[in-house]
Amino acid sequence: MTRGIVGVGVVGLGEMGRVHAGHLAVGVPRARLVHVADADLATARAAGERLGVRWSTSLESMLEHPVDAVVIATPPPSHPSLIAAAAHAGKAIFCEKPLAGTAAAACTAVEAVERAGAILQIGFQRRFDPSFAAAQRRVESGELGPIRLYLSSMRSQAPPSLTALESGEHRLLFDAGCHELDASRWLVGEVDEVTVAADPSPPSSAILALRFANGALGSIDLTYFAGYGFDCRSEIVAEHATLRIHARNANDLELLSSGGSSRPLQRTFLERFRKAYRLELVAFVDSVVTGQAPAVTGEDGLVAQCLCEAAELSRLEGCSVRMGLRTTASGLTYPVPVTRGASSESPAIPG
Ligand SMILES: NC(=O)c1ccc[n+]([C@@H]2O[C@H](COP(=O)([O-])OP(=O)(O)OC[C@H]3O[C@@H](n4cnc5c(N)ncnc54)[C@H](O)[C@@H]3O)[C@@H](O)[C@H]2O)c1
Repeated sequence: MTRGIVGVGVVGLGEMGRVHAGHLAVGVPRARLVHVADADLATARAAGERLGVRWSTSLESMLEHPVDAVVIATPPPSHPSLIAAAAHAGKAIFCEKPLAGTAAAACTAVEAVERAGAILQIGFQRRFDPSFAAAQRRVESGELGPIRLYLSSMRSQAPPSLTALESGEHRLLFDAGCHELDASRWLVGEVDEVTVAADPSPPSSAILALRFANGALGSIDLTYFAGYGFDCRSEIVAEHATLRIHARNANDLELLSSGGSSRPLQRTFLERFRKAYRLELVAFVDSVVTGQAPAVTGEDGLVAQCLCEAAELSRLEGCSVRMGLRTTASGLTYPVPVTRGASSESPAIPG
């Protein structure tokens, strides 16, 4: 770190990597974008030239140059090995969600980070969205009283390509599900049991029923087919008050005419979470500068991954899935899915 400025490299320059690189180039105090990398040479060169920074085609090459921190925005199965390499090289790491392709790989990544004593923040940007963050502060203050119900929706306007769905490159219960499951435990508490109803494989719509350890019940709906736009909102029903978090409109403009009234809707997650994507990087850079633990840790990423696997198991087996606990040889304890009737020490999915 030179004079308190964190030099950051971004690996993976698809949709999210470009968003992160753009913020780091101009919008994050105490950060300087110094390097970009993508496995596709033309993509890497174009981004490097556009942003006026060094570019390369791998994290390995990036690490030969000075960087303090690395933002990983490649597809999920590549995250654990990139995280391990960056941690081993002593870099702070921001990694997009989901943490990995499997819970086993996610666990390996968290252990590598712990061994290296590195900082790892996961890209659950909803925790930095002003409305969601305000709701969480109210829950934490205790003013709502005990939570009884948590109702949440995450709906996209259009599905990914059929090829991306059939190849497993996009998986509703993991890509969208991990955001929802992370938000559920952040807002309400740890999840004890997951039950899923979904349309035929590969699912494009699903409903998740949750039981929380504190007795609250939850329901989450996910779909790729909300033709009206991108819609992400939650409701927390508690004994003293109910909170509704909804920010569906693109702006405050309302058109009133003889035909009725209308307000423009948001079309994409990039619009809905524009602020949050910047604020999560501001918080990450703060952690790097101060050495404090990030607001969303590798363990949070691991728990969300395990809950996604529980949801997938419920979908495949048509049963409710409880969460048990596993402790690794290194002392890392995390929840693992256990089908009903199985002992809590015997995970249903090898993890
Ligand atoms: N937080 C959010 O709201 C949000 C939204 C969308 C995507 N994401 C996540 O962001 C990540 C990236 O998604 P995306 O939609 O930008 O993907 P993408 O397919 O658009 O881009 C991925 C890029 O990574 C590059 N790449 C792949 N493997 C690489 C490697 N080993 N080294 C260097 N480059 C490599 C590819 O060439 C590609 O350019 C995923 O984990 C995804 O789930 C998060």
